[in-house]
Amino acid sequence: MPLRTHTCGELTGESEGLKVTLCGWVENRRDHGGVLFVDLRDRYGRTQVLFNPRDEQALYEQACGLGGETVVKIEGTVRRRPEGMANPELPTGEIEVHCETLAVLSKADTPPFEPAQADSVSDLKRMKYRYIDMRRARVMNNLILRHRIFKEIRDYFDEKGFIEVETPFLTKSTPEGARDYLVPSRTYPGRFYALPQSPQMFKQLLMVGGLDRYFQIVRCFRDEDLRADRQPEFTQLDLEMSFVNEEDIHELLEGMVARFMENVVGRPVTPPFPRMPYAEALDRYGSDKPDTRFAMELVDLTDIGASCEFKVFSSVAGSGGLVRGICAPRQFSRKEIDKLTDYVKEFGAKGLVWFKVEKGELASSTAKFFTPEQLAEIRTRYDAKDGDTIFIVADTRKTCLAALGELRVHLGGLLGLRDKSKYNYLWVVQPPLFEPNDDGSPTPTHHPFTSPHADDLDMLEEKPLEVRSLAYDLVLNGVELGSGSVRIHDSQVQSRVFSVLGIEEKEAQARFGFFLEALRYGTPPHAGFAMGLARLVAILAGEDSIREVIAFPKTTSAACPLTDSPSEVDEAQLAELKLQLKKDS
Ligand code: AMO
Repeated sequence: MPLRTHTCGELTGESEGLKVTLCGWVENRRDHGGVLFVDLRDRYGRTQVLFNPRDEQALYEQACGLGGETVVKIEGTVRRRPEGMANPELPTGEIEVHCETLAVLSKADTPPFEPAQADSVSDLKRMKYRYIDMRRARVMNNLILRHRIFKEIRDYFDEKGFIEVETPFLTKSTPEGARDYLVPSRTYPGRFYALPQSPQMFKQLLMVGGLDRYFQIVRCFRDEDLRADRQPEFTQLDLEMSFVNEEDIHELLEGMVARFMENVVGRPVTPPFPRMPYAEALDRYGSDKPDTRFAMELVDLTDIGASCEFKVFSSVAGSGGLVRGICAPRQFSRKEIDKLTDYVKEFGAKGLVWFKVEKGELASSTAKFFTPEQLAEIRTRYDAKDGDTIFIVADTRKTCLAALGELRVHLGGLLGLRDKSKYNYLWVVQPPLFEPNDDGSPTPTHHPFTSPHADDLDMLEEKPLEVRSLAYDLVLNGVELGSGSVRIHDSQVQSRVFSVLGIEEKEAQARFGFFLEALRYGTPPHAGFAMGLARLVAILAGEDSIREVIAFPKTTSAACPLTDSPSEVDEAQLAELKLQLKKDS
């Protein structure tokens, strides 16, 4: 005999007259004129259960004593609710179950909060009591959406001939740019495994091994500064293919996205997605992951800056910097402008110059430094209308673009332009192979296994910072969903890249010797990609943080409030590992 005949989400008017057994959590109790209504909840929905003292006094009294979140089993008969009492918002809103027997399966202590009230509880408390938080539809639906997307992805890659292969967690450092999580070895005292920041080298080795098409839904670990879109452990869709070029990878992923957008999200998208060169993305949007749901593009004023009387602009323009701005379709108060100025300062800008557009003219305390012709030219370049505000930053190229890019997204949010019902997928392609460290030395923009653009290979040693790469990012609504690249499959080119990075032969051997050796034994040309799945699901669920789509997330300081980890360990465990803690640490 199964414990229940139906779930709490499936009975409708059609079920009238059925004898049913339901199990679930007591959500709330309402006494209406001596009749008691209990809402019974499970993953599938809510069903109203009615206890009438006229039918059975003892049962009614037992139900009156039920505490919230108690788990019960009820038997009863499905009845239509009386005229006018149906709840059209609820799938089960036409009916109620008239209870005949009640069994308490598990009594609940008063919970730290009721699931329905979780939105008004601190995030920390929600994480600590995640098993209560997830009893409500928001979290539960996010986990279900996540499952559906994962399932579509697995089916898609299976149909395309990909093999899902697991790769080690106890391994060696993988260079993705973050700190490693280390695991001490008991058998080799003083030695450590590193948890993988990604399966990058293993998936390339699978190509050397002839697997041809690999994918994996895999956990990665990175000890880095956390934010709304980063967790210390996160799940990637990871893939690699042999004998393909970047277009093949783009098309493959577009097919996957089109599939889940249609089958799961119900919002079809039409590939191909736009491909935007990295340099153009920075130029037009001040970002390598532009949110193209709205325009508000950056417009260059460096030439006007160079010839105007405003010293801040002319000196920046004269020293190779940029004077650029954006035009927002709104007026801002003095206080709001001060706040926006503070905002751009967080990204290194020294200030924010603004012009209001009033009666066809630009008005600002800075306007006196410009000729009427210059002001008219500025207005024309932005096609600015009355009621608009132009914001301008003058700084080094890097700071100017970064500050304006951030301001643009911030203003997009303030002005309600970041429409959650739009899904703008975009490929950002051909980023530089390296970017400069603070001291000007090159560091990989993606990772050191990314292939230089064939046309730029000659410049690798002389002008490394000008070499383009065969890397690409998939961006959705201003979020970097994933990255990939065509890989280096020639061990000599790989050695040249290490040497430009200042990684000596000896160090390269110690860190990646096994990998460099593998490249020498017959390596097919190959390319791949990895996508952060929590980022994807969060956007599709309309959530601002990836924590909302992870069953048991960590805080921004990488702690788990539920299990209270990281935690101290026994002296004995440390001794076994031959580890000793420093007293003052
Ligand atoms: P990359 O380092 O760009 O590339 O990572 C790919 C994607 O993983 C997601 N991601 C994260 N998600 C949540 N929390 C984090 N801390 C975090 N870090 C990264 C992002 C990101 O776009 N091996 C390469 C891929 C390749 O070349 O094939 C790699 O891992 O969505």
